[in-house]
Amino acid sequence: MAQPRPSGRITLPLLTPIHRGRQGLACRYRCANACAHDEPNTSDNEYFGDVLARAVTRRGVLRAGAVLTLAAGAGTALAACTPGAGGTGGAPAEPHGLDFEPVAPNTTDAITVPPGYESDVVISWGDPVVPGAPDFDFDNQTAEAQAVQFGYNNDFCGLLPLPGPGERYVMFCNHEYTTEPLMFRGYDPDDPTEEQYRIGLAAHGLTVVVVERDPGTGRITPVLDERYNRRYTGTSEFVLDGPAAGSEWLRTSADPTGTRVLGTLNNCSGGVTPWGTFLSGEENFHGYFANAGEVTDPVVAARLARYGVEEEATERRWERFDRRFDVTEEPNEVNRFGWIVEVDPFDPEAPPVKHTALGRFKHEGATIRLAPDRRAVAYMGDDERFDYVYKYVSDEPMADGQTRAAREHNRTLLSRGTLYVARFTGSSPDGEIDGTGRLPADGRFDGTGEWIPLASGDRSFVDGMTAAEVYVFTREAADKVGATKMDRPEDVEANPRTGHVYIALTNNTDRGKADATRTAGPDEANPRVDNKHGHVIELVEEGGDPTATSFRWSILLVCGDPNDPGTYFGGFDKSQVSPITSPDNLAFDPYGNLWISTDSGMELGINDGLYAVSLEGETRGKTTLFASVPVGAECCGPVVTENFVLISAQHPGDLDDASPDTPASTWPGGPGTQPRPSVVNIWRTGRAGQPGRIGA
Ligand code: FEO
Ligand code: CA
Ligand code: CA
Repeated sequence: MAQPRPSGRITLPLLTPIHRGRQGLACRYRCANACAHDEPNTSDNEYFGDVLARAVTRRGVLRAGAVLTLAAGAGTALAACTPGAGGTGGAPAEPHGLDFEPVAPNTTDAITVPPGYESDVVISWGDPVVPGAPDFDFDNQTAEAQAVQFGYNNDFCGLLPLPGPGERYVMFCNHEYTTEPLMFRGYDPDDPTEEQYRIGLAAHGLTVVVVERDPGTGRITPVLDERYNRRYTGTSEFVLDGPAAGSEWLRTSADPTGTRVLGTLNNCSGGVTPWGTFLSGEENFHGYFANAGEVTDPVVAARLARYGVEEEATERRWERFDRRFDVTEEPNEVNRFGWIVEVDPFDPEAPPVKHTALGRFKHEGATIRLAPDRRAVAYMGDDERFDYVYKYVSDEPMADGQTRAAREHNRTLLSRGTLYVARFTGSSPDGEIDGTGRLPADGRFDGTGEWIPLASGDRSFVDGMTAAEVYVFTREAADKVGATKMDRPEDVEANPRTGHVYIALTNNTDRGKADATRTAGPDEANPRVDNKHGHVIELVEEGGDPTATSFRWSILLVCGDPNDPGTYFGGFDKSQVSPITSPDNLAFDPYGNLWISTDSGMELGINDGLYAVSLEGETRGKTTLFASVPVGAECCGPVVTENFVLISAQHPGDLDDASPDTPASTWPGGPGTQPRPSVVNIWRTGRAGQPGRIGA
């Protein structure tokens, strides 16, 4: 039963001045200062105003009106069957699963959860993963130890249940990047040691680890399981598969076949497939490859620039220890990163795969929805300012069951299919999109869109590019077909209850900047200039079919301080929402509510956190802070179940001048310890010592 809510506006904390900013280390070590460089997308790919002018001429305004009516009708039908919608009088009743007191935005060095909830660390950087792995020893770390321990900066987290007694899961985490100045006492960024390089490579990659939940206490703990637990690092062997595997762009002196790669780097978000595997996106791979500025071949140089590859030395200087990280020595090695990776947790002998059929860009992640005919559809974002949203549709349907034949078939679903990129068209005159975030006259940022095919198997749909080129240089292909330049697309994920697709656009402070050769102005799908706080788009495929090539869309949230008139919370009363900035990762609970984790809370002067968002009925657009992460950390990897919530607290203590001698955070160990990226379990303290249901 819904509890009374505190009334009145949820305010930002009274901030003490923040003397240490957060971004320096994250920018250098995560993204190789991508935001300090010019945007790699210099294509003259048309701006929204041009698209709109043509669309209005071709289709007429009446058609746009018809789409609006349809959208409103769909919303009404859903609201009518939404539990909790339409409360009687007073504040609207909370939707099922969202009945908890909001956490106050804060700057504390802790995990903060609602009253009546508890949290506990599941696993931290350096904890043993493989049986026999040594315990973590900050001051005496070795590459050999790190290769069998939990890696650094865990981001995505996924669970698959294990059959058998008890409540056990196979948990999959990825380790996006390393922050060497926080990992090594006395680290010299100009002169890293070879052992630090080897530890860094081992701290990247992926973890598969069994975890067990005690239904009596609610706690989740790792199990040192001999069969399933494993690490993949920056030197593990991956198989390249799909239509571009073996192509000339992927061959190196160490691998003339173009089918075997050592390592995976900068894995950000990911996904869990309906056939029981895990996906992970290789994101800011450009920061590991040096000396693009010395490449003289103009075609190669242009392609390196389109992906933002370092012109000179890299931040970590790994090119000093392995020539494959120097593009003047090994020009194709960089092309072997930037893919979607798939791991079968139940078959430890199966090699992890990089799927070329899903294209190469700065993959945030990939999430799968099955079409009515059981084909697999993957939604994907390319996380860079002014880059694109993609989708992939498999040729074959998923085979049901867990027989060996079914699993082998399903492992090919991401190898053969069609790759698309999105073009968004607005419904309102461009003069009404003034860049402030103010709604246009029709009351919605909304419109229609198309999925433009790029390639399918050996067939290219892009003039002047072979299919292999489309897959390896996907950004270039998308530029040519006029995809819409977005504000850093992160997670893209379909709501399993409605099929509606949500796109987190994390921010883009260069939207509308004066230098028009490198930026784009506001458009209806990216309506704010200097977009510090990001927004969330809701996309509805034509006919509800994820294989459709057209869609409708509208903006659900224009994020930021609700006191800012340029914010929008689905039309909900802004005095009742939690402030939110920089939406990054998305998840859905069993009731169909959206959950969003954030990455840049400091833009609002608060710690990052996990927010629940109502999608239907009178509370649609209401954001409620459920948990916040420690100082300097980013909140990512949400898993929301009926009984527990997992979040990843990535890079705790990552403030500009922090070091092991002057840590900015001592979470989770407390005073006298170093900050350690970790997976956190949150559950509700129930009655009679039994954990309760989340939000119930
Ligand atoms: Fe690694 Fe797009 O965040
Ligand atoms: Ca509109
Ligand atoms: Ca992310």
